[in-house]
Amino acid sequence: MRHVLAPSRLRATTNFAGLIRSTSTPEFSSTFTATFRQQTHRSLSIKPSLQKNFQTSSKMSSTQISANAVLDLIKQRRTYYPLSKDLGSLTVERINEIVKEALQHVPSSFNSQSNRVVVLFGAEHEKLWDITTETLKAIVPEDNWASTAGRMAMFKGAAGTILFFEDETVVKGMQEKFALYADRFPVWATQSDAMLQHTLWVALEAEGLGANLQHYNPLIDAKVAETWSVPENWKLNAQLVFGGKTGDAGEKAFGAVEEKFKTFGSA
Ligand SMILES: Cc1cc2nc3c(=O)[nH]c(=O)nc-3n(C[C@H](O)[C@H](O)[C@H](O)COP(=O)(O)O)c2cc1C
Repeated sequence: MRHVLAPSRLRATTNFAGLIRSTSTPEFSSTFTATFRQQTHRSLSIKPSLQKNFQTSSKMSSTQISANAVLDLIKQRRTYYPLSKDLGSLTVERINEIVKEALQHVPSSFNSQSNRVVVLFGAEHEKLWDITTETLKAIVPEDNWASTAGRMAMFKGAAGTILFFEDETVVKGMQEKFALYADRFPVWATQSDAMLQHTLWVALEAEGLGANLQHYNPLIDAKVAETWSVPENWKLNAQLVFGGKTGDAGEKAFGAVEEKFKTFGSA
């Protein structure tokens, strides 16, 4: 898919590959550009109606995308359950690569890099949901157990789970170093982690997988730490369950954007 961009379009696009080239090592840059071009041209999981937003210029060596391409991916991400164990053509290595890239490049306050991740596949993923089931069994009233057990079985039936943590040692270090902002650092660490969660949710969706976000922390924290030797200073924030889609996402209602948005000034 090759299009020559109109000048006005060119101005409106963001040259991600160019940006990366100017700020990273040649080795990383060429890998990213090649991967990105391959992904974009393959357009495997981008809905046909959205592919117009992924454009390349015949005069330029790099791939350009418009903000609409980013927004379309963001709109395409939804909550999916139940999920299957079918990863399609995706490998464990590729998913881990995506996670590592996001982990390295998602921003954090003062570039403190407080995000930490554990990715579980197959039997290890199932172990997580067995742990969660055991934990909940001890506290959920018998009358409600059937629905909880059904939900646990549903998560266990997915292909994997990404566990998101923030490193409290990093947060404490930032509080000591920048006392003026001491009360802000825990909030900023959680915000950075949320950015990572969203980035990966969108990225997995872009690869054709479905995902849903869960929060069984802090109930499962101790057992998770023990099972996967997670350092005690890593605080669990969320669990992103992923796998093959088995159906459509549910209906989603939207409040009026005018009630959520204000703008002032002119160019
Ligand atoms: C901060 C946050 C916490 C959430 N916690 C849960 C959760 O614990 N369990 C769950 O099934 N979904 C959870 N969700 C998913 C939301 O319910 C879902 O994103 C929302 O209803 C919008 O639907 P969509 O994801 O399909 O756009 C959470 C989402 C966010 C952003």
